[in-house]
Amino acid sequence: MTHGLRKGLTSYGDAGFSLFLRKAFIKAMGYSDDALERPIIGITDTFSDYNPCHGNVPDLIESVKRGVMLAGGLPMVFPTISIGESFSYPTSMFLRNLMSMDTEEMIRSQPMDSVVVIGGCDKTLPAQVMAVASTDIPTVVVQTGPMVVGHHKGEVLGACTDCRRLWGQHRAGGIGEAEIELISGRLAPSIGTCMVMGTASTMACIVEAMGLALPMSATAPATHADRRRIAEASGKRAAEMAVSGTPKPIDLITEGSVHNAMIVLQAIGGSTNGLIHLIAMAGRAGVKVDMDAFDRLGREIPVLLNLKPSGSHYMEHFHHAGGLPALMRELKGLLDLNALSISGNTIGDAIDQAEEVPGQDVIRSLSAPLKKEGAMAVLHGNLAPGTAVIKQSAASPELMRHTGRAVVFESVEDMTDRIDLPDLDVLAEDVLVLRNAGPKGAPGMPEAGYLPIPAKLARQGVKDMVRISDARMSGTAFGTIVLHITPESAVGGPLSVVQNGDRISLDVEARRIELLIDDAELQTRLEARKKNPPHRELPIRGYARLFEDCVLQADQGCDFDFLLHDGPSGRNS
Ligand code: FES
Repeated sequence: MTHGLRKGLTSYGDAGFSLFLRKAFIKAMGYSDDALERPIIGITDTFSDYNPCHGNVPDLIESVKRGVMLAGGLPMVFPTISIGESFSYPTSMFLRNLMSMDTEEMIRSQPMDSVVVIGGCDKTLPAQVMAVASTDIPTVVVQTGPMVVGHHKGEVLGACTDCRRLWGQHRAGGIGEAEIELISGRLAPSIGTCMVMGTASTMACIVEAMGLALPMSATAPATHADRRRIAEASGKRAAEMAVSGTPKPIDLITEGSVHNAMIVLQAIGGSTNGLIHLIAMAGRAGVKVDMDAFDRLGREIPVLLNLKPSGSHYMEHFHHAGGLPALMRELKGLLDLNALSISGNTIGDAIDQAEEVPGQDVIRSLSAPLKKEGAMAVLHGNLAPGTAVIKQSAASPELMRHTGRAVVFESVEDMTDRIDLPDLDVLAEDVLVLRNAGPKGAPGMPEAGYLPIPAKLARQGVKDMVRISDARMSGTAFGTIVLHITPESAVGGPLSVVQNGDRISLDVEARRIELLIDDAELQTRLEARKKNPPHRELPIRGYARLFEDCVLQADQGCDFDFLLHDGPSGRNS
């Protein structure tokens, strides 16, 4: 087994010459022979002027390097793609697999004995974990950490649950132009990831729960000294793992750790996106996420974390209440405590060391939960022959069982054009339907599932309606919103044949989403659509073509078919 600079030599047909040339060039950077003989710890640089959620990456890199050198290793920083949520066209989900491929290939093609991946904004942590799961390089994940909270007129604000709430008030005429501009400067008051339980916080927690990052790493704010100490400790651990060669990501992404992640996802009131990413990350390690098992866990495991959008606090409060180890202590009897962590200990050991914080109201006990069921429910029915998902912890209780008339939007553009028209035929008890917003349809499965309340209803004070789609939704959003319907409408799923005026029934308790027409009528409509599918402009080149050809459905994690553990080009195929 080769190590350090000798790994993965560039092919010139003469290994000795390849190493000689490699050394000759790297010495141009001023490295000594002593440095070049050390174990090499790669560190990803995902800083970008377009990505404020990664604004502390340069500082974290310095801290990781310090940890690596304290342990006698050689840190080598290299760039990869960086994805900032609000700066990604058409969507960050569209780019997640590209980032995973870039990260995987850069790790594979450059010599390193272990790697520290630093990420935070929604799609970056899943992309990085998908990447490392496809390599055999010991890996430590360092999350960039959440922002601190904002303040406006005596109220504590958080990106981006309050972005949506306050924008909704602006749309309804309750907040004027000048004030909404002022608010835009207060919602995200520091670098770091969104500080509510959105996708970034969800993924930070899942990564820690799976043992891929150090205990307490999910919650330490981006700007706190704790965050930099965690980065230093992560560098030190990565240097130790470079020597020992263990654990590898595939040792950590197991049935047990995925089970733990599913429990945590339910108990934190996690983002629905987290489920897609968990499926994709586990899939790279050959572990299948059983959607029905996930749903059953949701009936048993209540939401314990009192964080927005399901509750009222923010990530920094979670950190000061003992962080994820303290939350997992409440779930101890349900978790696989022997699952390993990159700390060198088990998840059970991390829980045993969790801090007790008297009087805190952020982490609830099983006997006094925030919500009596978990974050998400998995739905079935004739509208979702695969599955659909609802974040029940952020839905309106009175709409969890509801039947209404369908008001259909053909696409995100159609919805944008018509939703606020004064003559739109819509009532508060209707069901808003958005289609052609799935992985292939939009493409990239935009977070458009949070259809805005039509302006004329918002002005009447309507705060929530049942909304259904094949799209995703930001983890920061609140509402009775059915998402991820599979198969998506663009590939001919039943969502594609819903007509204005059809009646749709949602019953979350029964886990059903149904189009109330008879089976024969549904089959007739589906046959007619199959014979005469609507025209769809398909990409003819580049990454967009690859995405169209290879992306899987939401219940398969939206990974590319050829990147799966058992896929045609997988290392185990
Ligand atoms: Fe990056 Fe929310 S926009 S974490």
